[in-house]
Order: sequence, then structure tokens, then C-alpha cells
Amino acid sequence: MDRGGKTVALIVAAGRGERAGGPVPKQYRRVGGKTVLAHAIDAFIGHSAIDEVRVVIGEGQEKNYRSAIGVRALPAPIIGGATRRESVYAGLRAIDAAHVLIHDAARPFVPAAVIDRLIAALAVTPGAIPVLPVVDTLAKADNLLGDTVPREGVVRVQTPQAFRHDAILGAHGAWPADRDATDDAQIARAAGLDVATVTGDRLLEKLTHAEDFVAAESRLEARMITRTGLGFDVHAFGQGDRVWLGGVEIPFGRGLAGHSDADVALHALTDALLGAIGDGDIGSHFPPSDPRWRGAPSALFVEHARDRIAERGGIIDHVDLTIICEAPRIGPHRDEMRARIAGLLRLSVGRVSIKATTTERLGFTGRSEGIAAQAIATVRMGEEE
Ligand code: CTP
Ligand code: MG
Repeated sequence: MDRGGKTVALIVAAGRGERAGGPVPKQYRRVGGKTVLAHAIDAFIGHSAIDEVRVVIGEGQEKNYRSAIGVRALPAPIIGGATRRESVYAGLRAIDAAHVLIHDAARPFVPAAVIDRLIAALAVTPGAIPVLPVVDTLAKADNLLGDTVPREGVVRVQTPQAFRHDAILGAHGAWPADRDATDDAQIARAAGLDVATVTGDRLLEKLTHAEDFVAAESRLEARMITRTGLGFDVHAFGQGDRVWLGGVEIPFGRGLAGHSDADVALHALTDALLGAIGDGDIGSHFPPSDPRWRGAPSALFVEHARDRIAERGGIIDHVDLTIICEAPRIGPHRDEMRARIAGLLRLSVGRVSIKATTTERLGFTGRSEGIAAQAIATVRMGEEE
């Protein structure tokens, strides 16, 4: 195979997802906490044979696109057309590649083995596509059942579809502008190109209707594993007449010293959340030396950790905190703290636990020199993360 140029994954995401319905086009909806488009992008980014990922989006979808890709650094999206074929053609014209894998964003789960098979087949033919056998009986039907259609030698065609870039670009150029096509292999064949078939995968099935999302969600959840993260923090008492604890302001004879609002409970919680996804700690995300965080509400830190988890497709199941001090008394504020943290994490209150203890007048908390807090977070994540 010619390795002289790049192998580009071209993901078409310019559709409107009308059959699936919903407030945003289906490729921008979340499955397992992560957008359908982000699942597809990650499958290609994570494959060593793919040099670049390019995405084709619809006009006016820039905002949806940006929030869907999150922190992923990709070249600017390409603007597609009114049909899938036009979107692919716009993408093919915009990229610089030796080989291209054209993929529907609406197929979020792309097994690496399928990519391997396609790339191996491209060494021999200018095109290669994944297919699966048809297992059901096929028949024509109107209101009444018509003739059975022989299924021998008939396959279901999936994406990604891999081609030599120059060959598929030429084939698209030769295809009549007023004729539609549901995939690119038929366009390749019309131009006389040989297209090899490799074994596809049921995971590649397209999300087309609303109920496909339910199935995709449960398939993904079945493959998630539970992770836990632990957090601990201490702040000393200082000047002031109130403390922030668990996102709640409590009038008190002293304040807590610290760069932000010194909410020791939310700091421990932030570290627990970051710990569950192995994403550093609060200090690495919000350096105390940065003047932006002077007096900052610690709710910001919790929301940031929450978003980092969501971007990776994680789901927060539960958090539990222990606040360690002689005073103030936590009991009277417990319900408000639970509600506040539940709001920040978008969890039901039942998934947030707040406990408090003294240390029997022992140690720095016992001498009322400061407050300590511990937190633990339980998060579900895809196995591959
Ligand atoms: N697509 C595209 N440009 C279009 C139409 C479709 O890039 N003008 C993309 C879709 O975003 C999707 C893929 O082509 O990833 C397969 O198309 P389909 O499943 O039909 O998606 P939609 O056209 O968005 O859905 P619907 O037909 O239900 O509106
Ligand atoms: Mg469509």
C-alpha cells in the first residue's frame, strides 16, 4: 500500500436526524454521557493507522459541533450539503489524503478490528467496505406480502468505507449531480472501481430511530466499569465571620483561610471526582498561584470536574463526604449542602451523602485550628478510558 500520504477518517455529521427526532440532530446527542459524534471521533483518533480525523457538519451546526467535541483538538470542520452524498463530496474536496475512511457520525461504535481489515484490503483494491450477512427473510410488500427476494449473496452494507482518495474523489465527480446515493461504494462501483468486502460488525449499526438510542445506551452501560476517587483537604481558620462548606455559607465566629472561598468540603469533592477519572488534582487544574481563583466560588471547581467526567463519557453515580470539625455544627446545614451539591453534579439528592464528625478534641481539628474534609466519588466509565 502507498504510505506516501495520509490516511484520513472523514466523518459525515451534517444530517438533521429527522427520523430520530429530538431537540438536536442525533449525532450531537449523548449516549453513555458522551455525544454520538465524539464516540466516532475517539474510535478513529485512538487507531494508530489513522493520521487525521475530519468532520463534515451542517450549516449552522457549529455550536452543536463545538460542544459535542469538547476538548478534542481537531482541524476546523468542513461544511456539508443538503444530502449525505453532497456532504461526503464536500469533505473529499477539502481534505488532503492518500486514503480516506468515510464514516457516518450516526454509527458511534467503530471496532478497531474493522478499521484494520479495511486498511489491509485497501492494499489490494481501491475500495473496501464492511458488510454483514442478511439473516432475515427478505420480501417485497405493499399492504399484502409480495414475492420473497432471494437473500443468497445479499449483504448489509455499513460504514466506514475505505477508498484511495483520488479514486473516490474522481468517482464522486463523475456521479450525476441530480442523483442521490445512500453510500459511497455504489458511487465507486459506478465509476468502475473494484470494492472489496470485509466482515463488518453489529456494533456498527446506525442510530436511525429514537429506539436505537435506548439499545445503544444499554449496550454501552453493560460495558462500563465502576471507578472510585478519593479526596482530602484541610483549611485553617482565619479572619472572618462566616465559612463556606459544601457550597453553603454558614455564619460563624471565624472564617477559613485559603485562596478561593476555602470551601474545604467542595475541594475534597473536586479531588475525589478528578481522582475517579485519573485527571490530576484541584491544584493542577486551578493553581493557587493564579489570581483568577482569588475568592472564587469553589462550585466552579466542582462543575469543572463534573464536565471533565462527562466529556469522557463518565456517569457520576454517588458521592459521599465527611466534614471533620468541632464547630460549626454541620447537622442544621446538611440538607442544604446535599441539595446544593446535587444541583452542581446534576444528581438526585439521594446520590449525595454528607456526614460530619468531631475528633474528640484531639489533633488540629480537635483544637479548632481548622476544618478537614474527605470525599469519595463513584463513577462509571467505558472500559477503554
Ligand atoms: N449526513 C450528512 N449530510 C446530510 C445528510 C446526512 O452528513 N445532508 C450524514 C448524517 O449526519 C449521518 C449519515 O450521513 O451521520 C447517515 O445519514 P442518516 O442516518 O440518514 O442521518 P440523517 O440524515 O441525519 O437522518 P434522517 O435521514 O433521519 O434525517
Ligand atoms: Mg438522512
